[in-house]
Amino acid sequence: MTEEIKISIRKLYKIFGEDPAAALEHVRAGVDKTELLDAHDHVLGLQDINVDMHAGKITVIMGLSGSGKSTLIRHVNRLIEPTAGEVWVNGENILELDEKQLRQVRRERMSMVFQKFALLPHRTILENAGTPLSVRGLSRAEWEDEARTWLNRVGLEGLDEQHPHQLSGGMQQRVGIARALTSNADIMLMDEAFSALDPLIRTDMQNLLLELQEELHKTIVFITHDLDEALKLADHLVILKDGAVIQQGEPQKILLHPNDPYITDFISDINRARVLRVRSVMVPTREPRDGLAGEVDHDANLESVIALSGGDTTLSYRVIRKGEQVGVLSVKDLVRALVPSEASDEGVLSRAS
Ligand SMILES: Nc1ncnc2c1ncn2[C@@H]1O[C@H](COP(=O)(O)OP(=O)(O)O)[C@@H](O)[C@H]1O
Ligand SMILES: [Mg+2]
Repeated sequence: MTEEIKISIRKLYKIFGEDPAAALEHVRAGVDKTELLDAHDHVLGLQDINVDMHAGKITVIMGLSGSGKSTLIRHVNRLIEPTAGEVWVNGENILELDEKQLRQVRRERMSMVFQKFALLPHRTILENAGTPLSVRGLSRAEWEDEARTWLNRVGLEGLDEQHPHQLSGGMQQRVGIARALTSNADIMLMDEAFSALDPLIRTDMQNLLLELQEELHKTIVFITHDLDEALKLADHLVILKDGAVIQQGEPQKILLHPNDPYITDFISDINRARVLRVRSVMVPTREPRDGLAGEVDHDANLESVIALSGGDTTLSYRVIRKGEQVGVLSVKDLVRALVPSEASDEGVLSRAS
């Protein structure tokens, strides 16, 4: 990929306990999370994390509760000091920043959206949305318009003078997003930002985020334990288990080629026809081909092609992207992709190593 890398996490380890440095030696010698806790009384939070996050993209960190997601995202703004490793943001090693520089990075380069909204209860919606600028010392006259613009943009027109408790959870989180956007930071850190919301509201918020992202191209680090949410939002998906990355890549690739039995298990229940796209299953070719049944868009899901084909597995379609042929999709290949493959041997071996 040639895109700019905005955040780069290199060989990152985090161990909680009395003597992390000594415990790190055990981990480097092959001691796992369970043994480190049982035999050495230390918690292995993160081990050997290597992740590049690209500018303007949504990187989703997914894993079960306790897998290390929050620990990882808190390293990005150095709310947690690593036991070992490096965290690069905008080409700067943030472990080398002094207090003042760090404060400036946190205030101006990054914004956070929290699961529990974290609004100030005695301030109005407008004042809450304006905080990133008021803490930088701007006067009300200077931040008011900006805060109002973003409140309107997330669908909260006319609610400026309300207080947080007067709003539903979904609306409070809209204020959380407006506040993050008011800061004008190009990095957004979102730790389970939608996990506390009811399913329908949650879907609305996911759609709002994608809509904003199409326009704003923020670098977003989004944490979730929900696979459907991860697949919907991620440009790059990172799967954590027991503090280690077990697979990362484009979500479609992970679905088609899971490299670990844990992931195979995790993805076994999803509706593949709805999630998989034509582009992931087609044979890429620009050669014209005779006997095709019609055209399908590269980004259409497989479900729509099944409907189009009426279930006829002898058919193939020309795949179109921006008006040009980029591949051919046979309904036979489509059907094969609907059946999950076992984790490859390769994956099992690399997990054991
Ligand atoms: N301050 C701490 N002291 C000791 N253990 C911690 C601390 N913070 C997190 N942990 C442990 O690190 C692991 C990862 O936690 P966390 O990052 O909160 O997981 P997640 O966000 O994926 O639920 C867990 O085993 C948790 O108990
Ligand atoms: Mg967490």
